Amino acid sequence: MTLQVRFRWKAALVFGAAVTALAVSGLSHGQPGAPSPVGSWPAAPPTAPVIQPPPASASAVERGRYLVTLGDCAACHTAPGGTPFAGGVPLNTPFGVIYSTNITPDTATGIGGWTPDQFRRALQEGRDDQGQNLYPAMPYPYFSHIAAADIEAMRAYLMTVPPAHAEAQANRLPFPLNLRVLIQGWNWLNFRPAPFTATSTRSAEWNRGAYIVNSLAHCGACHTPKTFLGGDQRDKPLRGGELDNWYAPNLNGSPHGGLQGWSTDDIVAYLSRGSNDHAAASGSMQAVVELSTSRMSAADLRAIAVYLKALPATPEPDADRPDPQKMRAGQAIYTDQCSACHGADGSGVAGLFPPLRGNPGVLQPSATTGLHAILAGAQAAATKAKPSQPAMPAFAWKLTDDEVAAVSTYVGNSWGNSAPAVGRDTVARLRARIAAHPIRLTKGPV
Ligand code: HEC
Ligand code: HEC
Ligand code: HEC
Repeated sequence: MTLQVRFRWKAALVFGAAVTALAVSGLSHGQPGAPSPVGSWPAAPPTAPVIQPPPASASAVERGRYLVTLGDCAACHTAPGGTPFAGGVPLNTPFGVIYSTNITPDTATGIGGWTPDQFRRALQEGRDDQGQNLYPAMPYPYFSHIAAADIEAMRAYLMTVPPAHAEAQANRLPFPLNLRVLIQGWNWLNFRPAPFTATSTRSAEWNRGAYIVNSLAHCGACHTPKTFLGGDQRDKPLRGGELDNWYAPNLNGSPHGGLQGWSTDDIVAYLSRGSNDHAAASGSMQAVVELSTSRMSAADLRAIAVYLKALPATPEPDADRPDPQKMRAGQAIYTDQCSACHGADGSGVAGLFPPLRGNPGVLQPSATTGLHAILAGAQAAATKAKPSQPAMPAFAWKLTDDEVAAVSTYVGNSWGNSAPAVGRDTVARLRARIAAHPIRLTKGPV
């Protein structure tokens, strides 16, 4: 008995670890941010258009269309330039490739023949129509909290999109990861399905924000740190997580690395336009803004902001003062290569180049996002409110690992910023990882 239990535990761990890594990196689809030509920058953008959510009296189809946007289903199920929701998007993982599936109403290759309950189980339980486990690259751990009525509305909408005949592509996973039954072990350790329950002591707006963030919009898939098995560290909700060579920052009320200095309007502006006076969305967040948050209603964006602003601050350890020699080297590189756009004092140019002073993205315990931008360049999100896409050129070809480490350390520790110094090895590892998983540009597929 003991043996068997121990064996199962071990197996669950091994397979869980592998599958989880798949899940985590499964979110690594569509990394935008490839270097792009640097040209002239258009004038300051207009204010965000007001998007109206469908009224309560709207048909299930209309509500479903909007909910599918909140859930960012297109990010994974629509290939750039491909037929909406026909799947086939390769999700790169360190172990191989998982393809998203066809969720159009085609009966042969899509979900046209699925019963409402089969669809509900896919989202809430992570199972396909045959009852087989889905890989957690499909974010069912979050979708399990979606209300049944919202799932039904999404299904009603998806049943109206043009059916596409598109066979599921075979995942390229080595044995034994190709055995779906092993996902059971991962679920056992990491999956806690539960319906969303409102908190009666909080406002309706806060509860709406909590619901969107933690279920449909699956913000924690990137922003919550993971256990070594890739499950959420549930005691650290939205406290910042590394994914696919970017770092999704802490979203709680902490003063430096968190959103304490952001007003609800600042958060709404960032999510609707892709930038605000403090920061700009690059990497994985660029795609989230383009396909999902910029298409949310003003009321829902405000609800998200109200919820995030209520997350309490957590202690932030002081970073050691970096080596003065490294700071001097970094300053020289900054003056030469960066100050034209980001300003000698790190204050950026409103609406064009994000400030680096006080930018919470720069103040995270991990320098990954800044390093990624320096090595591979970055491009602003294209949104209706702000269609221009100011870009940052790549410096990987120009700067050595030591130089990138120095300039990143300088940015993290100037103008009142304080962040851990960056070592050459960190840069070398990230450079190799980015080269191994080249960045693919997603350009708003729908
Ligand atoms: C982060 C990427 C991602 C997002 C976001 C995502 N999916 Fe998926 N989804 C996948 C992947 C990958 C699979 C295939 C998993 C597998 O083969 O085990 C999948 C499978 C499915 C399936 C099962 C289909 C089948 O043929 O087995 C359904 C249904 C589905 N997704 C619906 C949705 C809906 C609805 C949304 C939005 C609310 C959504 N997905 C958002 C990645 C995603
Ligand atoms: C696919 C991964 C992913 C998902 C899903 C995601 N984010 Fe992000 N987010 C990121 C990354 C990476 C960054 C850092 C971007 C940068 O600094 O350029 C980021 C940055 C942010 C920032 C700016 C924080 C700062 O300190 O600069 C906010 C606010 C934010 N995200 C909110 C959200 C919300 C709200 C959701 C859910 C609606 C969400 N994110 C979903 C990856 C993600
Ligand atoms: C041609 C103008 C330009 C130059 C030169 C430039 N940047 Fe940038 N940088 C940008 C733009 C534009 C963005 C925002 C991209 C986006 O919206 O995703 C950015 C983003 C960043 C970010 C991420 C900020 C955030 O809010 O997520 C960091 C860190 C950064 N740059 C550092 C540097 C450093 C260090 C250098 C010099 C080695 C440099 N930049 C050179 C234009 C530039």
